[in-house]
Amino acid sequence: MISVSENNIFVLGNSGFSYIFRISPEGLLEHLHYGGSLKSPFNVPIHHRRTPRGAVSHYKGLENVNLNAMPQEYPVFGTSDYRFPAIHMIQASGNTISDFVYVGHEIVKDKPRLAGLPSARGGDSQTLILSLVDSLSNVEVKLYYTVWEDYGVIARSVVVTNNGQAAVNLNHIYSSAIDLPFADYESLHLSGTWAREMNACRHNLAPGRFTIDSARGTSSAAHHPFLAVLEQGAGETHGRVFASTLMYSGNFSMSAETSEFGDVRLLTGLNPFNFNWKLEPGERFTTPEALHVYSGSGLSEMSRLWHDFIRDKVSPPKFKNRARPTYINSWEASYFDIDEDKVLALSDKAVQLGVDMVVVDDGWFKGRRNDKTSLGDWTEDEGRFPSGMDALAKAVKAKGLKFGLWFEPEMVSPDSDLYRVHPDWAIHVLGRRTSLGRNQLTLDLSRPEVCDYIYDSLDTLLSDGNIDYVKWDMNRNMTDVGSAALSPDRQRETAHRYMLGLYGILDRLTAAYPDVQFENCASGGNRADLGMLFYMPQSWTSDMCDPVGRLSIINGLSYLYPLDTTASYIGPSPNHQNGRMSSIKTRYLAGIFCPAKGISLSNSDIDADFEALKTHMDYAKETQLEFLGGRFTRIAHTQNKTIWQYETSDKQTIYVAYFNILSAPNLPFERAYLRALPQGAVYICQDTDAAYSSDVLMHSGLPLPYITTDPAHDGDQGQGQNLYMDEGDFSAHLFTLKRSS
Ligand code: GLA
Repeated sequence: MISVSENNIFVLGNSGFSYIFRISPEGLLEHLHYGGSLKSPFNVPIHHRRTPRGAVSHYKGLENVNLNAMPQEYPVFGTSDYRFPAIHMIQASGNTISDFVYVGHEIVKDKPRLAGLPSARGGDSQTLILSLVDSLSNVEVKLYYTVWEDYGVIARSVVVTNNGQAAVNLNHIYSSAIDLPFADYESLHLSGTWAREMNACRHNLAPGRFTIDSARGTSSAAHHPFLAVLEQGAGETHGRVFASTLMYSGNFSMSAETSEFGDVRLLTGLNPFNFNWKLEPGERFTTPEALHVYSGSGLSEMSRLWHDFIRDKVSPPKFKNRARPTYINSWEASYFDIDEDKVLALSDKAVQLGVDMVVVDDGWFKGRRNDKTSLGDWTEDEGRFPSGMDALAKAVKAKGLKFGLWFEPEMVSPDSDLYRVHPDWAIHVLGRRTSLGRNQLTLDLSRPEVCDYIYDSLDTLLSDGNIDYVKWDMNRNMTDVGSAALSPDRQRETAHRYMLGLYGILDRLTAAYPDVQFENCASGGNRADLGMLFYMPQSWTSDMCDPVGRLSIINGLSYLYPLDTTASYIGPSPNHQNGRMSSIKTRYLAGIFCPAKGISLSNSDIDADFEALKTHMDYAKETQLEFLGGRFTRIAHTQNKTIWQYETSDKQTIYVAYFNILSAPNLPFERAYLRALPQGAVYICQDTDAAYSSDVLMHSGLPLPYITTDPAHDGDQGQGQNLYMDEGDFSAHLFTLKRSS
């Protein structure tokens, strides 16, 4: 996995990729290759690096050593490189020039966990730790690189230690830099907003710096921490792809800078904007972990590499193969108008429908009748829950169900007992009126006493032992960022200290309650990132439950995330976000490959569609384990059509979900060309009894149901091999292909 030559060439990788750099004669880390696995990696060419390039600066006076043209592993600004640097440190003198030079390295078995931060798990891995020192300040930078034998991922992080005599300031510090050689590149990232998260966006990279970032205090739905740089024209099955993400839930930055020479610098890490970290002598700072994937054969392979890795090395192992309970959630059934009787009535419906769990969403705690009050006061509202939450949980469980409860622990309403006692616990700037979001303020999790309060509030309810599931919500971005507890020179540390506080709470809670299933939510997908998924096996990726909206969200998130990490429920029609009407079947099938499935409908809506809901919930239970650990493949996603393929982990079943958005007459006969099926396999289509070999499915295609208003004129009547979509708009069909040999 990691080897070093005598002349200090470092080779990291496995059979899937090689990542190579060397210690240059100047003592700098010079990047040599990232891409397909090389059989003779130490022979990788090093050329054209020290050539006159016009307006040249000579690093330390060395002729033609121009860092602006040298691919590096951890570049700085100001010593002949003019591109955006990986680290920018303000020295005690106020000067910003640093010169980090290699002093040594070690290779350790496996992977150390990052201090205070979520990080990918080791196992069959090796970590290279390189030490660089800036001799003037005596600040040491340690670069960590981990590679695994069986995964196409490289993990990078940085630990900075001030071994000098004076404080320095980290004005910005990225977790990783990768300098890719000249080529025509495109970028792919995921952009969106509330209820429209995860839209895939592709652009050509032009000279200059393309950045996605967040300064909102959450990783955010605006730009997700995922950036892929693709060889121009790369598609699902061809082309080189370099993809990155950051395992972090707060302010991040990812950029691709195309230099005047056409090569591209990728930076992944904390957002430098509005950030500073003061490092006193003896102090240490650890960056979040950047993860990188290389695929030589397009986006499907890139996603497969991410999915396998996230499932095995990021998500909580305990839940990996654990069936997700089906559920009824009270939110779109009753919103804030919830009480004990309504929960019991929903529980009765749950029993009739055969679902596993009832989740009490927002509105259950002291005085909470709308979104203007009570966040922070985590005791049940006695008027509406007179028996108490534990007694209610027991009553629900006595019906044979599991019980789930919603919290928004990081928030406080100005109209709450908590705020009246501790106004300084909210993030705010002294003397300024704070902006509200959904009428609420963000608690200052950079303060240990606030974190203890949050931990204790949840602990009080969870310790009764009757809560099986927690929906952990977070419904506003940060503004007016400042902490009453931090000194003026540390104010710009608040947002990152907040994240460390949050991760600390989650570390404690998940250790104390290992069997409680946590679902991550932030107004849907405003913080659906790998930092949160490290603690919580699933995310509520969007408040958009209309199937058409949901298809784009799922399609987009699948570039990075295995669908194992997602939940999806059948919401009302007309949909509450966009007013669209759709069938129960299409609403259900839009989330078919999300293993956590449920319903959020009122009792009367449930009654109106009882049979259809029962059929789907029964099927969801039957297939509870099928949609964990398998292989999801995007076959098509256009304005009017989505086709997805899913192969179960035992490779015995292929599901193909087909969605047609708007109907039209006289359409083409369409086929789905399936991918990456085992050679020589034969499947029986459960809809038609037709037998298909894997090569037919991949190369000749699976005939899709025809869209017509007149199936009665089917010339194939009797043979039963022609399939038809349900009439009208927003129709869906699920194929099940069972392997027979
Ligand atoms: C957010 C969540 C919803 C619901 C509400 C409750 O919007 O995304 O699912 O829990 O909060 O207030």
